[in-house]
Amino acid sequence: MRYIGRYKPTFKFWLGPKLFVVVTQPRDIEIVLNQCPEKPQHYKYFCDIFGNGLITLPVNQWKKHRKLIGPTFNQQILNSFVSTFGHYSNILVEKLKGTVGKGCVDLYPIFSQCTLDIVCDTTMGTKVNAMDEGSQYMLWISRREKVQLSVNNEGVPQGKIFLDYLLKLTDQDGKWSDEETIEESRTIIVAGSDATAQTLCYVLMMLAMHQDIQNKVYDEIISILKDDRSPTLADLQEMTYLERFIKESLRLFPAASVIGRFVTNDVALDF
Ligand code: HEM
Repeated sequence: MRYIGRYKPTFKFWLGPKLFVVVTQPRDIEIVLNQCPEKPQHYKYFCDIFGNGLITLPVNQWKKHRKLIGPTFNQQILNSFVSTFGHYSNILVEKLKGTVGKGCVDLYPIFSQCTLDIVCDTTMGTKVNAMDEGSQYMLWISRREKVQLSVNNEGVPQGKIFLDYLLKLTDQDGKWSDEETIEESRTIIVAGSDATAQTLCYVLMMLAMHQDIQNKVYDEIISILKDDRSPTLADLQEMTYLERFIKESLRLFPAASVIGRFVTNDVALDF
């Protein structure tokens, strides 16, 4: 990151026999992402964390997965989860209240339990209750035991779009395997919980550092919600100052600040 600050907008460096070209301008990033969909070799090291899913798959498999999974991600589906977001946010607020007056607190574990609860509930239909003291799920994780995702119809509550959809794909003429369901589930759980928890940390840090802005964010929320209730979709859409604040925090502190692509053909950059 230090080199990016020193040498931008575009520079190259060698790592052993491998040449890396770093692009930082939005137009150049757009060109590279459009023309070079292949992931670089070092993404294979992320497989243990993210699974062999959309983030790490080579482009020929990525295209198939992306086409099949695409329909599970749209605004309408996301909108239907607002009350679930509200439910877990209320539990989070209670947990945060318990930290008041206790000095310096590492918020990341608390946020990642909350985002894990949300992503597991909305995509898998599974309530892991990670924020509960003594949660069975968190015990597994702390002991680093391998958590098996159940993909049979008996163990999985119905009505959840992502996992239901993948399970339905498995039934269709051998197009999709149980293994692919497990790997994409791992990807969605890790990708969906970790980046969001990190972003929450940065957002809260920025609010703490800029109290004048914190007051404006607070006033906006109170003027829209008025009483102590969970926000609806319409309420969230009205929170334009909060949205700008979150986007600016994401710009300054992106949870995934560097991504890579493997270049297989000549690419003309704009710089
Ligand atoms: C603030 C929160 C988030 C940030 C900053 C973020 C960031 C990113 C970035 C930079 C990539 C591109 C990685 C690459 O191409 O090498 C990515 C991909 C992805 N993210 Fe997120 N993400 C966030 C939240 C989420 C959530 C909530 C989910 C799911 C519930 C999710 C699921 C995915 C998936 C599946 C991909 C792979 C997409 C593809 O290549 O087709 N992310 N994310």
